[in-house]
Amino acid sequence: MLDTEIIHFFRTQLYAWHALNARKNMPWLKERDAYKIWLSEIILQQTTVQQGTPYYLKFVKAYPTVFDLANAPSDEVLKNWEGLGYYSRARNLIFAAKQIVADFNGVFPNNFDDILKLKGVGNYTASAIGAYAFNLPHLAIDGNAYRVMARFFGIDAVLQSPEANKIFSKVGNQILDANNSAAFNQAMMDFGATQCTPSSPNCSRCPLNLNCYAFNNGAVGFLPVKKSAVAKTKRYFNYVVACVGDSVYIHQRTESDIWRDLYQFILIETEAPIEQTQEMTFQYFDTKLSEILNGAAYAIESRSENFVQQLTHRTVIATFWEIKLEKQIASAPDFILVSETELQRYAFPKVISNYLTKNQKTLF
Ligand code: ADE
Repeated sequence: MLDTEIIHFFRTQLYAWHALNARKNMPWLKERDAYKIWLSEIILQQTTVQQGTPYYLKFVKAYPTVFDLANAPSDEVLKNWEGLGYYSRARNLIFAAKQIVADFNGVFPNNFDDILKLKGVGNYTASAIGAYAFNLPHLAIDGNAYRVMARFFGIDAVLQSPEANKIFSKVGNQILDANNSAAFNQAMMDFGATQCTPSSPNCSRCPLNLNCYAFNNGAVGFLPVKKSAVAKTKRYFNYVVACVGDSVYIHQRTESDIWRDLYQFILIETEAPIEQTQEMTFQYFDTKLSEILNGAAYAIESRSENFVQQLTHRTVIATFWEIKLEKQIASAPDFILVSETELQRYAFPKVISNYLTKNQKTLF
């Protein structure tokens, strides 16, 4: 059990700090509509406040009520999500909107257990929505909250371990100002994001430093303790930008792999990068491509530099091979032939949008 005086000190100083330093200009701050708060939380799981704000504004404008989102074409929602990455969050958003309509008569649930039933909403998000929309007594323990608690209370359990989850949630429950859950949560998030930052926090000017374990023990740089990064593997994506006249072939990714439902060019994945000197990989690429093109003759016009996209456990290294075809592929039921302007209607993985942005003027 934490000392009540320490808890009192923590809350008082946190609120005093927040009174002077609260982040402003976040459009969801004054929002009371749980549906919109939910949208903001899902977007903010994915990106920073700065990057997330235009997405939030776009979503509340395009889908002002949960019915609008539940009835929206999923391709359109994915397109609006483009750039945020991790598209399963967007798919869950659509699914959960339909759940709210079907299971809760379109009224956003106002208790923790029901909020937790929504697809894509875990403990953290349910706590944040519950606190901000309904002042429910839950602390949303995100990276910021972990850092603040680990440093102030000197918690050295390895993040995400069962032991750490138990300790942090116990400490979180004790420090939470349960009657002012929304204000307390926002103060913790703002404090973690702008004062108790991951690197070079300005501890000498922190009003909590008097009782901060890490500050008083030279442990700021060592807390929280992260689990060592998982080994990341590389995937090599060779995209074939097959042009016929003014159009190019694309198709939708349907396998249960990364980027499901997004669109892409013809893809030939290889175990290693294709180098002109590595005969084997080029031959594999050439044979595969001939199969896909149904024997149609092709000429390689150019090959792009590498475009890299970092995912949670993998790095995708994409190269774009621009080829010209004399005529359309004989039988290609999965492919769609689209013009340059039509391309903008489809949602692509970031690595492809980056390539398209860079090559807009030269592709056709
Ligand atoms: N990240 C998640 N929720 C947030 C909020 N309400 N304000 C700022 N950053 C957040």
